[in-house]
Amino acid sequence: MKPRIFRIDQYNIDHEALKQAAEIVNNRGLVAFPTETVYGLGANALDPKAVTRIFEAKKRPLDDPLIVHISRKEDLGRLAKEVPHEAERLIECFWPGPLTVVLRKSELVPDIVTTGLETVAIRMPSNEVASSFIEAAGTPIAAPSANLFGRPSPTTAQHVVEDLGGNIDAVIDGGKTEIGIESSVIEFIDGRIVLLRPGGIDLEEISRYAEKVEVYSGPEASSPSPGKYPQHYSPEARVIVVEEGEGQIERVLSLAEEKASRGIKTGIMSLQEHADKYRGYQVKVLGPAGDSRICASRLFSILREFDKEGVDVIIAEGINEKGMGLAVMNRLKKAAGPEMEFEF
Ligand code: TXA
Ligand code: MG
Repeated sequence: MKPRIFRIDQYNIDHEALKQAAEIVNNRGLVAFPTETVYGLGANALDPKAVTRIFEAKKRPLDDPLIVHISRKEDLGRLAKEVPHEAERLIECFWPGPLTVVLRKSELVPDIVTTGLETVAIRMPSNEVASSFIEAAGTPIAAPSANLFGRPSPTTAQHVVEDLGGNIDAVIDGGKTEIGIESSVIEFIDGRIVLLRPGGIDLEEISRYAEKVEVYSGPEASSPSPGKYPQHYSPEARVIVVEEGEGQIERVLSLAEEKASRGIKTGIMSLQEHADKYRGYQVKVLGPAGDSRICASRLFSILREFDKEGVDVIIAEGINEKGMGLAVMNRLKKAAGPEMEFEF
C-alpha cells in the first residue's frame, strides 16, 4: 500500500492536515516527517507495539536504540530520570535544534525504544513542521532516520518513499531538509561530556558552551552510536574515500583511471574547486571546500543520485574536518565501510 502524503509548507502550516497525520500516529501508525536534519520515521514513543513497527519497516536490528522527539522542554522531565547540569546548559543553548542528549531513562520510556539500555536519547527539533506534528500528536515521538537500515539518510520525502513506501502509513512532505545530516548525539557520563555522533551542531560550537568535550573514538564494534555497525549510510555502490591534502587530485585520478580501465562504472564526488580536473568522468560536486555546511546538506542526496545512475564505485574526495566537516567525514568513512583503510 502506498503511504498517504501530506504536503506541508513550513512557513504556512496546515494544522488540519497535521491533525490527520497525528491521528494516524495515535492509532499505532508510522508517519515519516521532516526535521531540520533529515526525515524521521515516527511512532508513538510510549506505545511499544507501535515502536516495534519502526524496526520492522526499516529492517533495523533490535539492538540499535531510537531517539525520542519532543516539542516542549517540559517533557524532558517525564522521560529522563535526571538531567545533569552539563546537559541542562547545552539544552538551554541548542534546543530546539539538532542536539540529541542521552540521559538516564524514566519508567515511562518503553524498553523497546532504548533497546534495553538504561539511557534514552532525546531531542527537540527546531523544524516547525516537526514540532507542530509532535504537538498535535500529544505524545513523544520515537523516530530514527526514515531510511532502510544502512542506507543514506533521507533529506526529501521522495527518498523516504523510495526506501519505505510500501511499509509505512503516511509521509509529511515538508520539502528538502535544511541541514541534511543527523543531529549531534551527546552522552553525559559521570560529569564527562562525550560526543557519540558528530552532527548538525559542530564540535567547535558545542565546545564554546561545554568544557572538555570528548569525541568518542573507541573501537567501532563497541560504539554505542551508529558506529556500532561499521558499514552505515551506504549507497549500493562501493565508496572509496581519498583523504584531503597534498596529492588528493592525483590519487583520485589514478584510482579513477584504474577503475575505468577495468570497465568499472565509476563516479567521482568532488569538491567544487577540483571538479574541472576530473573532466571526462562522471562527476558530482559536494560543495565548496570552504563551506562544510553546504557539503553536509548535499552529501546524502548525492550518494543516492549516484546509485540511481548505477555506478559501481564512488570515489569521494575527503574534506577538512573543521566545522561540519567532522560529521561529513564520519558519514563518508562509515559509507566506505571498514575496508577503506586499505585503499591507500
Ligand atoms: O537528526 C537526527 O538525529 C535524526 C532525526 C530524525 O531526528 N534521527 C536519527 O536517528 O538520526 P537514528 O536512529 O538514525 O540515529 C540515532 C542514533 C542511533 O543510531 C543510536 O545509536 C543513538 O542515536 N542512540 C539512541 N539512543 C541511544 C542511547 N540510549 N545511547 C547511545 N546512543 C543512542
Ligand atoms: Mg539513521
